[in-house]
Amino acid sequence: MEAYEVTGGAKIRGTVRISGAKNAVLPMLAATLLVDRPCEIIDAPDLRDVTVMTQILERLGAKVSIGKDQDGKRTLVVDARGLQTHEVPESLMRQMRSSIFLMGPLLGRLGKVRVSYPGGCAIGPRPIDLHLSSLCALGVAIEERGGYINARTNGLLGTEIHLDFPSVGATENTMMAAVTAKGTTIIRNAAKEPEIVDLQNFLNAVGAKIRGAGLDVIRIEGTQNLNGAKHQAIPDRIETGTFMVAACITGGEVIIENCIQEHVEAVIAKLQEVGAHIEEAGGHRIFVSGPSRIKAIDFKTLPYPGFPTDMQPQVMSLMSLAAGTSVITETIFENRFNQAEELRRMGANIKTEGRTAVIKGVNRLSGARVAASDLRSGAALVLAGLAAEGKTVVEGCHHIDRGYEELESKLNLLGATVRRITVNGS
Ligand code: EPZ
Repeated sequence: MEAYEVTGGAKIRGTVRISGAKNAVLPMLAATLLVDRPCEIIDAPDLRDVTVMTQILERLGAKVSIGKDQDGKRTLVVDARGLQTHEVPESLMRQMRSSIFLMGPLLGRLGKVRVSYPGGCAIGPRPIDLHLSSLCALGVAIEERGGYINARTNGLLGTEIHLDFPSVGATENTMMAAVTAKGTTIIRNAAKEPEIVDLQNFLNAVGAKIRGAGLDVIRIEGTQNLNGAKHQAIPDRIETGTFMVAACITGGEVIIENCIQEHVEAVIAKLQEVGAHIEEAGGHRIFVSGPSRIKAIDFKTLPYPGFPTDMQPQVMSLMSLAAGTSVITETIFENRFNQAEELRRMGANIKTEGRTAVIKGVNRLSGARVAASDLRSGAALVLAGLAAEGKTVVEGCHHIDRGYEELESKLNLLGATVRRITVNGS
C-alpha cells in the first residue's frame, strides 16, 4: 500500500497554484452526455475521481481526449455523439459513488439509465432518496431491485421540486435532468455551493436556460437545442482552504494563486479567529500568514455559504495544537470524525460524541503511523504531520489522490518534506 511519509517541523513558505475543482468538474463531465457535440472542460485536475468519471463516459460510448490549452491548462474534450448504452458499469460506479449524478444526463439524452446502488462510504450512509424523489417528480419511473436502479421516462416534464435538504448532488442531478424536460422546472431549497453555479454556467454555455444557481431557487426552462461548448472550471475551494490551514498549522506563510476569495469566506473568517493574517493579494491570489499562537475556536459545518464540511477534518488537526478547548459540530455527515482516532495516536486530546467533537489543544503532536479513511481525513493527517515532531506515515494515500492533484510536490515546493513510500499492509 502507498503512504505519505511526512517530516514535521518546517514552516511552509512560498506560492502554490490551486487546481480546478474536482466537485465542479465531475458533474460537468456527466453533463456532457446531454450534448451530441464535443465539449471542452478547461483546468480539469488530474485526479483519480476525474479519471474514473472519464472511464465511465468512455464505457458508455463517448470519446474523451486529454490535452493542454494555450496556457498549459489541462483540458478534457468529451464527444458524446457515440453514446450507445444507458448502463453505468458497476465496477466503476463502485469506485466513485458520486457517479449517481449520471442519472440526470442519461435520462435527458436516452430516456433511461441503469446504475448500481452507490455504496455508502467512510463518512456516512450517503442516501440518494432526494435524487430519486426529484427524478420521479420529473416523470421518471424508478425500479430498485437487487442493488440496481432502473429508471426510465416517456418524456421528462418540468415541475416544482422542494428539496428537504439542500443536497449538492440532488440539486445537480435535478438540474441536469431538467435541461431537456418539457416546460419549466423550479428547484426550491437548492444547494448554493459555487460548484452548482459553475454547473449552471457550463450548462448555459451548451444552450440550457437556467437561472438562480447560488440562490435558494433555481429555474430551468427546458430546451432541445444544445451545442458543444468550452468552459473553464472554477478553482478548488477545498484545496485552497487546505493550504490555508497548512500555513496556519506550521506558522508559515503562503501565497495561494488561482483561487476565488469569495468561495472561502467562511474558512477565512474562522482562520482569522484562530489568529491567522489573511488578505487578498490581487489577481485571484490570497496571502496567508499563520499565527504564532493558535487560538481555540468553536464552529459547526453547514451548507454553503456556511463553514464547509469538507474543511472540518483539516481544522480539527489545527485545533489539536490550539491554546484552549474547541468544539466542532458536524451537521452534514453522520460519521465525519475518522481523523480523530488517528490524531489521538499522534498525541491529540479529542473526544467525540455523535456529531460533536471536543478538542483540548496540546503543546505538541508526535509523528506516528496513521491511516486515512477518506479524502479529507487523509489531508488532515498530512497537515498534522507537517506540524508534528518526527515523521508521520499516512497510510492510504490513494484516498488523498482522489481529491488533491500533486499534493506532495505542491507541499515540497513550499518547503515541506513529504515522500510517497510503499508500506506493507498492517
Ligand atoms: C457533495 O457530496 C460533495 N461531493 C462532497 O464532497 C461534499 O462533502 C458534499 O457535497 C457536501 O458539501 C461532490 O460534489 C462529488 P450532499 P454529496 O448530497 O452531493 C444527505 C469531498 O470530500 N443526503 O449535499 O453526496 C447526505 O447523506 C466530498 O470532496 C440525503 O439524505 O453531498 C449528507 O448527510 C465528500 N439524501 C447530506 O445530505 C440524498 O438524496 C449532504 O449530502 C442526498 C444527500
